[in-house]
Amino acid sequence: MLTVRAPATSANLGSGFDVFGVALDRPADVVSVERADETTIEVSGAGAQYIPEDPRKNTAGVVARELDAPAHIRIDKGVRPSSGLGSSAASAAATAVALDALYERNLTGDELVRVAAEGEAAVSGEAHADNVAPSILGGFTVVRDDGVFSVDADVPLVACLPDIAVSTRDARGVVPESAAMDDVVHTVGSAATLTAGMQRDDPALVGRGMDERVVTPARAKLIDGYDDVCAAATDAGATGVTVSGAGPAIIAACYPARQRAVAAAMVEAFEDAGVDARAYRSTVGSGAEILGE
Ligand code: HSE
Repeated sequence: MLTVRAPATSANLGSGFDVFGVALDRPADVVSVERADETTIEVSGAGAQYIPEDPRKNTAGVVARELDAPAHIRIDKGVRPSSGLGSSAASAAATAVALDALYERNLTGDELVRVAAEGEAAVSGEAHADNVAPSILGGFTVVRDDGVFSVDADVPLVACLPDIAVSTRDARGVVPESAAMDDVVHTVGSAATLTAGMQRDDPALVGRGMDERVVTPARAKLIDGYDDVCAAATDAGATGVTVSGAGPAIIAACYPARQRAVAAAMVEAFEDAGVDARAYRSTVGSGAEILGE
């Protein structure tokens, strides 16, 4: 048996829709695999009741099929589904890394990301690698059709998860089909600013680089209390705030000394809007790790 922990992630970071992602320190999924003649799946933990155990419909089952690596797979969910924190990606990432080691396939990071993205597609309908990439590789990741790269970064983040669910399918349904050129120019400027900020470990640049005017405003409407939570985070010292992935989680960047206050302000603002929430204080974290054999 082999056990792998793969972290939650935050995709997009505002200006990098379907491109940027970042690994969080927590929460995480833990996946154990054992060789078997055919794949079976057991799911426990956060939101397990919403996750199919049929291998054809489960991200991990699709990964096992892609790798031709049948196994009994136990998934302990720390990242609840429909959170905006890369729940299905964490399971897919952990399974890909675990089966690669169990069957000694020695895939490259790029290959693991591609396989795990196929698992993601099983639940979202499209293969997005912007959550699986950071969950496997760690750090701040940039995904394009021609590959992926990862940059180590040290920037304090707060991921605030409200007790509501937004499905990725629904959140993709509100994304505008086109954008005005001045908004595209603004997004390019933000994306470049954010990337420079990650490379320099500069929370101010990362926060400024989260600003985006096309996808984020459309998705914000799906999150009760969004504007108030962003205002509260900014008042408490956040350098930038945006929707985490497809939502409903909201991600903020800040300086270390403000992290605790930002987390408390975001939770309180959600509660004022009638929504229970919890905050995860994090840095830019590590990718999937093998816990034991
Ligand atoms: N980039 C994706 C989106 C992440 O925002 O829809 C969620 O899969």
